[in-house]
Amino acid sequence: MSVVDTLGRPVRDLRISVTDRCNFRCTYCMPKSVFGRDHAFLPRRELLSFEEITRVARTFAGLGVRKLRLTGGEPLLRAEIEILIEMLAAIPGIELTLTTNGALLPRKARALRDAGLDRVTVSLDSLDDDTFRAMNDVDFPVGRVLEGIDAADEAGLPVKVNAVVKRGVNDDGVVELARRFRGTGHAVRFIEFMDVGATNGWRLDDVVPAGEIVRAIDEAFPLEPVEASYRGEVARRWRYRDGTGEIGVIASVTQPFCGDCTRARISADGRLYTCLFAVRGTDLRALLRSGAGDEELTSAIGGVWAARTDRYSERRTEATAALPKVEMSYIGG
Ligand code: GTP
Ligand code: 5AD
Ligand code: SF4
Ligand code: SF4
Repeated sequence: MSVVDTLGRPVRDLRISVTDRCNFRCTYCMPKSVFGRDHAFLPRRELLSFEEITRVARTFAGLGVRKLRLTGGEPLLRAEIEILIEMLAAIPGIELTLTTNGALLPRKARALRDAGLDRVTVSLDSLDDDTFRAMNDVDFPVGRVLEGIDAADEAGLPVKVNAVVKRGVNDDGVVELARRFRGTGHAVRFIEFMDVGATNGWRLDDVVPAGEIVRAIDEAFPLEPVEASYRGEVARRWRYRDGTGEIGVIASVTQPFCGDCTRARISADGRLYTCLFAVRGTDLRALLRSGAGDEELTSAIGGVWAARTDRYSERRTEATAALPKVEMSYIGG
């Protein structure tokens, strides 16, 4: 059975946050002023168990989902994540991927691959060590993330690199990032700084438009556009004319892509969100723990999706940016 929302969009992509914790404090995501020493993270009993996550994922697969992405917080902080990966990899017809800050990849890449992970996306905002340390705000050296990327590569995991670009913070390093990953087979995707959550102090002035990023890279290494590879692809893709690979830009602010948005999200405590910028979610955990049968679960999820109207990025204004939206570390990127 498949389902479409009120705007005719099917559900194809499920992003599952497995923990709201992170070992980084990126200023645009988990600023220390909010996620400091006293911050109350979710206690373990509040998290969906691996069995519960797998059941939800299977239900979504039945409704048309073809791609699962594990996120967080930092998903590699969830104990025994390899076991969850093994369970999810057993669902037929699904591509299984994960977004990580890379810090734990040197230790875990091999086990993740062996468990059945198909590929990995590593966040890396700058190659300049001082800038990188300032952005993660826990003084984490960039060299260790690069080791993580190498470890994933050696384990046979295809890698994409995500860089959030913030005006006056790391925009001067965009071309360097492009240069570093040209010819490696790892596409770098540059993400416009977004007004997710309610704590990152977002201002339109901090956004570097994707058009500007593409122009800067094109000047150094000539580019040409690539056709989208599937409906609702988040990144707009460009390839180097000399055949050394490709980049992408994720322009949620200047070129919103809600019209084709096929993504659902599950928070670590089992709430279903139909938009990254949602204020409210639907409690699936209560349903799971009340002993609901498969049909009941399918019809609850299908019902939420069928009623979906979200297109936040197309309607964004300074006023909507101030809404009490859930945090990205909780809902997952
Ligand atoms: P691939 O299949 O690896 O290309 O994944 P993807 O295109 O879904 O990209 P990824 O999951 O790496 O997402 C990259 C970033 O794009 C996220 O971390 C978010 O910052 C942003 N993003 C992803 N999905 C959405 C979305 O639905 N809406 C908005 N506004 N931004 C999104
Ligand atoms: N704007 C854009 N991207 C963000 N991410 C986290 N917060 C933001 C934001 N405010 C990205 C991270 C990572 C993914 C999980 O989401 O860099 O690549
Ligand atoms: Fe952690 Fe990723 Fe958020 Fe940075 S962007 S604080 S690494 S979850
Ligand atoms: Fe989808 Fe919401 Fe992002 Fe639009 S803003 S693309 S509806 S998640």
